[in-house]
Amino acid sequence: MYLNGQYVPYEEAKIPVEDRAFLFADGIYEVVRVYGGRPFDLEPHLRRLARSARELRLPEPDLEGLTRVTHELIRRNGVDEGTVYYQISRGVHAPRAHAFPGQPVEPTVLVLTHPLTPEAVAAGERRRQEGVTAITVPEQRWARCDIKSVSLLPNVLAKQQAAEQGAYEALFVRDGFVIEGSSSNVFAVIDGAIVTYPACNYILNGIARQRVIRDARSLGYTVLEQGIPLAALDRCQELFVTSTTSEVTPVVAVDGRPIGDGKVGPVVRALQQAYRAAARG
Ligand SMILES: Cc1ncc(COP(=O)(O)O)c(C=O)c1O
Repeated sequence: MYLNGQYVPYEEAKIPVEDRAFLFADGIYEVVRVYGGRPFDLEPHLRRLARSARELRLPEPDLEGLTRVTHELIRRNGVDEGTVYYQISRGVHAPRAHAFPGQPVEPTVLVLTHPLTPEAVAAGERRRQEGVTAITVPEQRWARCDIKSVSLLPNVLAKQQAAEQGAYEALFVRDGFVIEGSSSNVFAVIDGAIVTYPACNYILNGIARQRVIRDARSLGYTVLEQGIPLAALDRCQELFVTSTTSEVTPVVAVDGRPIGDGKVGPVVRALQQAYRAAARG
């Protein structure tokens, strides 16, 4: 893996216990998918990393350097199908104090790769073919969900609740609207239009979300960036979630009630095909 300017064996990488990501979750991250040895949509992911850094007043990351590191790590680790994980924290500072260190400290910058096993790739394919189920949970996060911060406790608890109920994803509901998943964006097909919550401070503006909106518009669909009323789930024709790792995954039931006819619909199929063509190109 890459840690603070050096390539080090994964087992030997060390981060001091007083790193602010460990003590305060004071850090940001990104996840990029690797298809056939190539990082997909690397540039928008790194641009979002830089935005997250600015919003949290972290030093501006070196995006050219991180691009080189990405390709080098993929090469060194021989990643064909997998992910690249980036994390930047405000660095190490003792004694523990909430406010930023008085003197500038070097951020902790790490990049690592995870290969995806053929079984994991096949499981994703199966979810995309057959659809998944979801539950709804009340929104309990802060009002800056647009920042991709490692502070993910409400997301962790929501995903765990979904897992314990046998569901794939938990969908956050804020003020009566389904806004996004615990690790995905959510889209509904209502009266033929594709509806998804607008990019604002309440959701992460997913890189997959942005791609799917572009694809949908170029396929001729109407995309409305507005809230999906929870009450509209009973009358929507299709529902799906998007993310870098799950791509376009249909949701066929929410809280035990079927979406549409409970089968994977044609809009999802068209968008999956477009996404796949770009990713696998
Ligand atoms: C809360 C949340 N929303 C949306 C997404 C989807 O973002 P992306 O498409 O960039 O992977 C993620 C991804 O991890 C997420 O954690």
